[in-house]
Amino acid sequence: MTRQLVGTSWKMNFTSTEAREYFRRLVPLVADITEATGRDLFVLPPFTSLWVAREELAGSRVAWGAQDVHENLAGAHTGDVSAPMLVDLGCRFVEVGHPERRRAYGDRDGRVAAKAATALSCGLEVIVSVGESRRLQERDARAVVLRHLGAVLGGVDAIVLDRVVVAYEPWWAIGAGATHAPFEHISAMQLAVRGWLLARGASSPRVIYGGSVESGATAALLRQPGVDGVFVGRAGLDPAEFARIAHAGLAHAGLD
Ligand code: PGA
Repeated sequence: MTRQLVGTSWKMNFTSTEAREYFRRLVPLVADITEATGRDLFVLPPFTSLWVAREELAGSRVAWGAQDVHENLAGAHTGDVSAPMLVDLGCRFVEVGHPERRRAYGDRDGRVAAKAATALSCGLEVIVSVGESRRLQERDARAVVLRHLGAVLGGVDAIVLDRVVVAYEPWWAIGAGATHAPFEHISAMQLAVRGWLLARGASSPRVIYGGSVESGATAALLRQPGVDGVFVGRAGLDPAEFARIAHAGLAHAGLD
């Protein structure tokens, strides 16, 4: 059975001092989520706090990673961060293709594909964000999502696909004022992604949902066919709320 994955990206929030406080609150709150729980946790802080993550999370069940990466391994790229730098800081994950990066930096599928390929070649697990930018009918949304997948992951070997996590993140369901997409829509997209990955030889596809996830809806979200986990933005900025999300739907949780 696929292990569930519950993660959060802080986006551009928290200084390294605040990051340390966050981790010190979070780690004891999720210490009961063990290997046997079948659920893995991760946090994507800003680059500037990855070293704090390594100090505070090493030995815990919470993995860490980065929110973006450059497609080149090194060179004259002012302000950018490379995959080897992330590996050196103990990152397990890196996200590529988040809608906020696509919008603000013009990252298109070709560049997202190059970032994913480089990160995979360095041994990282890559969270590839896909999703339609405005509300569309299921059929049209599916076409957009499958187009992203083909462009970003079409050249990736089957064996390497098992180090890919696809995050279905419809742009219109992300951020302040939004609410999560309807369950049937989410499920249809997640299953389409799952089918795509299986057809290309992935043996344990992981497809998570992101977009206004909060603790109240998580247990139900995780029961939807095709949903292998959740990816949390705003709600994850509070470690107690992230811990509630991490426990949602677990038999022993008593928290949701
Ligand atoms: P949100 O962000 O939870 O704040 O909507 C989610 C995301 O960016 O995927």
